[in-house]
Amino acid sequence: MSREDLYLLTDSKGRKYLVRLRPGGRFSHHRGAVDHEEIRKAGPGGVVQTHRGEPLFVSRPTLEDYVLLMPRSATVTYPKDASAMVMMLDLEPGMRVLEAGSGSGGLTLFLSRAVGESGEVVSVERRPEFLKRARDNVRAWGAENVRFVEGDLAEIDLEEAGFDAVAIDLMEPWKVLGAVARALKPGRRAVFYLPNITQVVELLNALPGHPLKNERVIEVHHRGWDVRPPVAHPSFRQVGHTAFLVELSRVREPEGDEHGDKEQPGGDPEKLPVAEGPGEGGPDQGP
Ligand SMILES: C[S@@+](CC[C@H](N)C(=O)[O-])C[C@H]1O[C@@H](n2cnc3c(N)ncnc32)[C@H](O)[C@@H]1O
Repeated sequence: MSREDLYLLTDSKGRKYLVRLRPGGRFSHHRGAVDHEEIRKAGPGGVVQTHRGEPLFVSRPTLEDYVLLMPRSATVTYPKDASAMVMMLDLEPGMRVLEAGSGSGGLTLFLSRAVGESGEVVSVERRPEFLKRARDNVRAWGAENVRFVEGDLAEIDLEEAGFDAVAIDLMEPWKVLGAVARALKPGRRAVFYLPNITQVVELLNALPGHPLKNERVIEVHHRGWDVRPPVAHPSFRQVGHTAFLVELSRVREPEGDEHGDKEQPGGDPEKLPVAEGPGEGGPDQGP
């Protein structure tokens, strides 16, 4: 399947529609219809009109558009968080990333783009019907560097220290900490996408005994503004809370220790491990 045929139409109210053009196809909008051939002729940057006069702006979907509009099985990792995860994992072309669960394949596509053709994403999903949805969505975007594995991340065989990064978006991440620690190269990062603060606390409470250290917990906020002078204010409709992002680093175990030993790099098991921050004065103001 080619990404060449994927188009985005935006109507006069700013509503977006993902369309795959096909010979003889017709796009239906509640304010009229237009032939796919006309959309192709107008091309990205052009405008078409439905037979009832609704103008539709023609463009290519960005990855953000695609992930928000593609068919879903599970809720996708929100794109603003997926791109922050790429930064926190410090991904580069050529790297190998482990991901679970695949869900609808939304986060997979951000990881795939970051590691490029010379890299690889191994995406693990335990529900076959979700795995199929993710695979179809990833193929429809044209990404070819993703290998899907059906199974439970806690149970499948993984190459020891075979990954430069691990991205986790699943309900009970504390159950996969052993697998994450085994898969990750020492010094590299795992990032967890967690909608609930109770999940963050449970995850961090489960850290002692694993060679993993809490680096930081953040939220990513984007605040849209409505700017049409003289009107200029934060938009009344905003994306609210999506998730917390928890970043862990893989620490090197002392010689002789195996994973799963009860070594506690996170420190006192009674306390949640915390990353050293810039202190009360806020971020370093520079030289
Ligand atoms: C919220 S969805 C992930 C959405 C995905 N990040 C996206 O952007 O489309 C969570 C997925 O994790 C899967 N899952 C839950 N626990 C798992 C485990 N232990 N191993 C593998 N997959 C798991 C679920 O079946 C579900 O599909």
